[in-house]
Amino acid sequence: MKINICREQDLTEGNVRTAKVMARTVAVIRINGELYGIEADCKHMKASMARGKIEGHTITCPAHGWQYDIRTGACLNELWVQLKTYPVVVKDGQVYVEVSV
Ligand code: FES
Repeated sequence: MKINICREQDLTEGNVRTAKVMARTVAVIRINGELYGIEADCKHMKASMARGKIEGHTITCPAHGWQYDIRTGACLNELWVQLKTYPVVVKDGQVYVEVSV
């Protein structure tokens, strides 16, 4: 399923844009010009990471500080924890993520 997240021009560097896809939140983040699609509900207590702090390729959950590698979804605090990542497609100035159901 292809989900429209936002217009490409609205996704500025270090910005997080999200969309609800059924029970989950999906985010797209632009870092150094690259677009990354990632699950945006923290695996700790499900806080939204839409307002997470971005440093390099790391996002920090605003609730209790768990950190994730945006490229892989790997949690840097708990090695058994993993966020899903999603392919990102830009078409006709719109940003989409490919989400499997
Ligand atoms: S909900 Fe994200 S660190 Fe607790």
